[in-house]
Amino acid sequence: MAKKTVPNDSTEASLAVHWKEEEVYAPATSFIAQANLADPGVFDRFSEKNFPECYKEYADLLTWYKYWEKTLDTSNPPFWKWFVGGELNACYNCVDRHLAQNRNKAALHFVPEPEQEGIQHITYQELWVRVNEFAALLQDFCGLKRGDRVTLHLPMTAELPITMLACARLGVIHSQVFSGFSGQACGERVADSTSRVLITMDAYYRGGTLLDHKKGADLAYEKAQELKAPPEKVLVWQRYPGKYSSPTPMVKGRDVAVNEILPKYRGHRVEPERMKSTDTLFLMYTSGSTGKPKAIQHGTGGYLAYVTGTSKYIQDIHPEDVYWCMADIGWITGHSYIVYGPLALCASSVIYEGVPTYPDAGRPWRIAEELGVNIFHTSPTAIRALRRAGDDIPKKYNYHFKHMTTVGEPIEPEVWRWFHRVVGKGEAVVVDTWWQTETGGFLCSTVPALMSMKPGSAGPGLPGIYPVVYDDEGIELPAGAGKAGNICIRNPWPGLMQSIWGDPDRMVSTYFQRYCKNKNSKDWRDWPYFAGDGAVFAQDGYFRILGRIDDVINVAGHRLGTKELESAALTVEEVAEAAVVPVPDEVKGRVPELYVALKPGHKASPALAEKISKALVAHIGPIAKPKHVWIVPDMPKTRSGKIMRRVLAAISTGGITGDITTLANPDVVELIRKTVQG
Ligand code: WT7
Repeated sequence: MAKKTVPNDSTEASLAVHWKEEEVYAPATSFIAQANLADPGVFDRFSEKNFPECYKEYADLLTWYKYWEKTLDTSNPPFWKWFVGGELNACYNCVDRHLAQNRNKAALHFVPEPEQEGIQHITYQELWVRVNEFAALLQDFCGLKRGDRVTLHLPMTAELPITMLACARLGVIHSQVFSGFSGQACGERVADSTSRVLITMDAYYRGGTLLDHKKGADLAYEKAQELKAPPEKVLVWQRYPGKYSSPTPMVKGRDVAVNEILPKYRGHRVEPERMKSTDTLFLMYTSGSTGKPKAIQHGTGGYLAYVTGTSKYIQDIHPEDVYWCMADIGWITGHSYIVYGPLALCASSVIYEGVPTYPDAGRPWRIAEELGVNIFHTSPTAIRALRRAGDDIPKKYNYHFKHMTTVGEPIEPEVWRWFHRVVGKGEAVVVDTWWQTETGGFLCSTVPALMSMKPGSAGPGLPGIYPVVYDDEGIELPAGAGKAGNICIRNPWPGLMQSIWGDPDRMVSTYFQRYCKNKNSKDWRDWPYFAGDGAVFAQDGYFRILGRIDDVINVAGHRLGTKELESAALTVEEVAEAAVVPVPDEVKGRVPELYVALKPGHKASPALAEKISKALVAHIGPIAKPKHVWIVPDMPKTRSGKIMRRVLAAISTGGITGDITTLANPDVVELIRKTVQG
């Protein structure tokens, strides 16, 4: 059964066992006193003997039009169905149901990047009005209906959650593409999801510049047209309503300025659709080890219950909290923990448009002070960038966090301690939440009021999540084994994806085939979920996540497929072969470095390297910009012709190349080393 995979970061994994155990930190008593979850009975309630019924506790945080009949349906493994028979609407749960008690409470605080612009506070009542009016426009003007797909390419503005919620209200499946992704990448996703409409914004601020974002929509349209699936319309929100802020012209008959036609829908209200628990809520594209990005498909009832439950118990969100997750809504973190989870709990959620260190590294703390933020959620990449600016800056501001989260990649214990001591002023609890686009919500983390924190370790499985570490042979590595293996989750949980859009087999082969015990079994115990991360299971039951074991590079906490980057390099005419390897970066954690070999008759030059680098940015976005482009005479290859990325990675990082005698062309290794190391 289990096919052998060699971790591309094998050195890191083997080093892991030599890491020293970090000291632990206890949560503050003031935090425990107010926590949503301070009853240790939760572990028994969510233990295996009560599975899957334990998840009723999460489902009961929602308002159902029709209560569900079956908690978990396992009749078609591994396509699990949760809360079967139930009907609900995600928009209703995030907006309408809060009006009776909290209509005047801020739902969203939109913080524009230019500091003089002032913060916009949107109450639940106002959110309800704006969502209704936009839903009416989508329904009437675009003819959108339940089950249709729409691609969003929206920046971090209030219009993004308004658009998502309007779609959810109608049962329209939204697919938000990170605004930093290129127009071409967006166009591929429009085509793959056969979206009827593309929704974008004319411009937004980043790093002090008002960027032309509309031009991305033109490229996206072109790309989707080339793929024979252009959208019917392009809707363009205006960053400044009433004023068009992009130098790229609107295309007549195709592009529509939302803010110009929205007044027509003033006062319109749209009944939320009664969706089945198992209907799809949204798609979110992510990278895998093959070139093509895959759309992870998330459902309504299970997903919403899971993100609401974990927002309540792990993020400790109360309705009176001001919660700021500094991630981008274009990633799963933002969907689950800026929009759906916090709003379902009636929190006030902060949306910040720009760069955390703009105009200086004090910006996040000024925002926190002005809004009274008390829960702060971010990534190691952002923490490292803020740490660079020094300890004095957070001290200048009078904010207080009760709770902080780190997510997206392993955090170095030193960086964790800085976050806790300097940003958290030693008073905030810290949770390190390990999860994935596919998993919908957190998998491993400490329960903040009930467990101590350990720098660099995510923690044990959440209540109701039973992780396990297998070696390559499928043998379970017990706690304290001192060896790294592949972390898996033994059981289904409500946040898990439903499928991969248009390619359900890929879900089975990527996540379930690896450790499936019996493919004819309808018992969930035979279908562990394979996450694709290496991990060490410590004696105390905490998991230390080591990172991806497949051909995926985690850049600033987000996955980029190496094949995706390599195919972008191959679009440059002169390039014959390309290989990407991850190299450490002080701020971003990892960045891609690119090796290319040229077709005969072409010569290496800095201009060509620049052209190749630009191709990656154009195809994928600035996040894909390689640290270096090394033009080499040939790639190190096995006799069967496979490029040995491990050898290139060792050269990039100054490490040991190991045994190269089995290569078809061992001599090239020295030539490459000279090019890179001089
Ligand atoms: C991959 C998932 C989870 C939302 C943002 C990224 C890595 C994620 C942690 C953590 C160590 C982490 C894993 C995972 N990762 N959180 N707390 N500690 N590694 O979502 O783009 O789907 O990436 O991010 O490698 O597989 P994603």
